[in-house]
Amino acid sequence: MSNNAYEMLNVAEPVDGVQQIQLDRPEALNALTTALLGELSRALDVAEANSHVKVVVLTGSIRAFAAGADVKEMAERDLVGIVNDPRQQSWQRITQFSKPIVAAINGYCLGGGCELAMHADILIAGTDAKFGQPEINLGIIPGAGGTQRLVRAVGKSLGMQMVLTGQPINAEQAKSAGLISEITQPELTLPRAMEVASQIAQKSALAVRLAKECVLKGMDTDLATGLRFERHAFTVLSGTKDRDEGIAAFLEKRKPTFTGQ
Ligand code: CAA
Repeated sequence: MSNNAYEMLNVAEPVDGVQQIQLDRPEALNALTTALLGELSRALDVAEANSHVKVVVLTGSIRAFAAGADVKEMAERDLVGIVNDPRQQSWQRITQFSKPIVAAINGYCLGGGCELAMHADILIAGTDAKFGQPEINLGIIPGAGGTQRLVRAVGKSLGMQMVLTGQPINAEQAKSAGLISEITQPELTLPRAMEVASQIAQKSALAVRLAKECVLKGMDTDLATGLRFERHAFTVLSGTKDRDEGIAAFLEKRKPTFTGQ
């Protein structure tokens, strides 16, 4: 069931803790206008506050996850417009989302679309997916993390090649480089992403949240700081009811029931 509070998104009701958000601007291959990014940021605000949402699955269409920032809109924006760009707030919102995002990616995943996919925590793609940063072909460079997150994900040489040539890579290359975790047949990408999301949704929401935070922190800092952060998070979790429940369920050979407490 979708929520029609949005013009360019299909936002489903959460099912067993998983909420599906679909980019829905087929006429432009889901090119990310400021308004579309704003809607996504609003949907994530709502999902953040909704305790029934444990995990978000973000997807596009079979033809395109998203073909980048909307070039037609970009053409109208001058230097001052870029400096005051409201898109930055939307990117911040997506970056700070505390619950896991699983991206189900088919077709074109280019420019800002690839940058959006890299904001997800787990990326699952169809055999037909194409990942690229073609901004260089427009005389610009990626502006939402493409020179930073891509290189952290695929390493310097491949990342540099993609950013400097604008040439996309296919799903196999993305998988072997570590950009995505799994490849599926295109029609199975979304079901598989939902399956992975459901597995996560059954865990302790507190442990999931801190695990996500620790992994992201580790990518952003030196090892000693990351390990200290992990130790603090681990210690915090030792005081939760979910930890008692998880250990008791293991010892009693039953499934745990986590409450997020
Ligand atoms: N912005 C606006 N419209 C776009 C778009 C984009 N990024 N990508 C596709 N579209 C539109 C096309 O203009 C076309 O609309 P019309 O029919 O009204 O002309 C429609 O979507 C379908 O696209 P095509 O006819 O081009 O489809 P195709 O299959 O022949 O080609 C494609 C697909 C290779 C993805 C091609 O559309 C393309 O190269 N798109 C642009 C990709 C790009 O350069 N992305 C980077 C944008 S810059 C950016 O993202 C900056 C940033 O990081 C901040």
